[in-house]
Amino acid sequence: MKSDAKNPGKELYQQLRRRSCAQLWLEEVPRFDRAAPRERFERVALVRAVGVVFSEGGTAAEKDAARAWLRGLLHDPEEKIRRYAMAALPKIGAGAGEETELLALLQTTASEREKKFLGQALDKIGGAATLDAAVALPAQTAQKVAAHVARSASPSAVRLDRALADFAGLRIHLRGRAGLEKIVRAEVEERGQKFRVAEVRRELVALTPVAPFSLADIFALRCFGTVGFVLGTAPVSDGPDAIEKLAAAITSPLARHLFATFTEGAPRYRLDFIAKGHQRGAVRLLANCAYALCPDLLNDPRSAPWAIDIHPAGRGCTAELRPRLSPDPRLWFRQQDVPAASHPPLAACMARLAGRVENDIVWDPFCGSGLELIERTFLGGVRSVFGTDLSAGAIAISRANFAAAQLGSVPAQFTCADFRDFAIVPGLGPEGATLIITNPPMGMRVPIPNLRGLIEDLFATAAAVLRPGGRLVFANPLRLENRQPALRLQSRETVDFGGFDCRLEMYRKAAR
Ligand SMILES: C[S@@+](CC[C@H](N)C(=O)[O-])C[C@H]1O[C@@H](n2cnc3c(N)ncnc32)[C@H](O)[C@@H]1O
Repeated sequence: MKSDAKNPGKELYQQLRRRSCAQLWLEEVPRFDRAAPRERFERVALVRAVGVVFSEGGTAAEKDAARAWLRGLLHDPEEKIRRYAMAALPKIGAGAGEETELLALLQTTASEREKKFLGQALDKIGGAATLDAAVALPAQTAQKVAAHVARSASPSAVRLDRALADFAGLRIHLRGRAGLEKIVRAEVEERGQKFRVAEVRRELVALTPVAPFSLADIFALRCFGTVGFVLGTAPVSDGPDAIEKLAAAITSPLARHLFATFTEGAPRYRLDFIAKGHQRGAVRLLANCAYALCPDLLNDPRSAPWAIDIHPAGRGCTAELRPRLSPDPRLWFRQQDVPAASHPPLAACMARLAGRVENDIVWDPFCGSGLELIERTFLGGVRSVFGTDLSAGAIAISRANFAAAQLGSVPAQFTCADFRDFAIVPGLGPEGATLIITNPPMGMRVPIPNLRGLIEDLFATAAAVLRPGGRLVFANPLRLENRQPALRLQSRETVDFGGFDCRLEMYRKAAR
């Protein structure tokens, strides 16, 4: 561990940070106030400690007193003490009075370092007064304050119902887990009359619109993970050229048209460099460059309705505008979740792999929160549904989710049981189901003592419970071949399960 012995300021801060509001206020603050300039300079860590300790505790009156003390320090003759006070103030909820004071200092100071600290404090507490002030703000501060003001005035939201009539040249990227692309494509071709598939690549199905469309039309598709509108590309992924091209893409007429059509309120976006880790420097540069080109589009990492994702593409990168919708509108029925719930688009893909068969009797032996059963029922043609799970909590959740999905006319029975005890479920005897669709435990979060045995038992149970011609669709976490002669492999695809590969398999029980 690093020692703070060579850094007495840090060591003092660690000590003061552990003290209570009362100790700081009754002992340390008076000592600091009485001290000679040199000692005050050496004990400046107290200013930081007051900001942190009073942000975590203290009554409203105590916070007010601490804030007034820090405000007084903004006029200290020692610049370092002023800077510490600027950094500490936003932590305890500074308001309009402090904002005015910081702005006044910004007008008078000649120190670039002090201007930077004032900018950082205003980033956090600045409002309309900062925007109106006749002072030159650093680009980042101006944008952060504008975003803060816009956010406070109206939260702004993505509009699902507005149609984009002028779509010429637009490319839409549906992104999802590797291995599911064919199913995503098939869903678009079958259901997405307003879109044409332009290209399929690993983890990506690219579409071009062929008719005016709304975001609701896109979210009628259930198998993709996220959707992004391509705003433009940069032929290189780093350096000033890339930043300039990406900023031009983010502020292009196309981007502005998309923001204007699909946003209620001020357009705010969060920037993410995908696959590059946390890139604070690049985010700041790009956000500042885009702001200089178009001050109406605001970069705002906090609760922004949009994300602009920078994806690597060959040697360059692509900027994509993605709605940040949480919860996903496709999960409108979800009341609750289980910890090992399936990735929702995967459940939808599994349902489509199973296909719509009239009068299907569907069983999920490991139903969890019920996603696969709900997705299959959404496709239609289901006569009845059975869900079993060892967890009573999961059974209650799947029951609630299924009821909320308003699939009322389809009878559903949820039973807390080991799947091997299927015979206790009324109606679910041998040859009782036409489809078994399931995402079994994988042993990742909760260790499964004998996963191999469990999967073998699943094959044996499926061979018994399925009617001739019935299907088993499941995510096989093991490279384990079926040994039930009655079950024939129909399809197998390796799918990314979020960090590990799994095989999505479909078997059909042989006709007698
Ligand atoms: C991967 S989760 C299923 C998630 C579900 N598809 C969903 O979307 O919420 C696996 C489930 O299997 C259940 N489970 C584990 N062993 C079981 C067994 N022997 N019989 C029945 N359920 C079991 C767990 O309680 C867990 O809810």
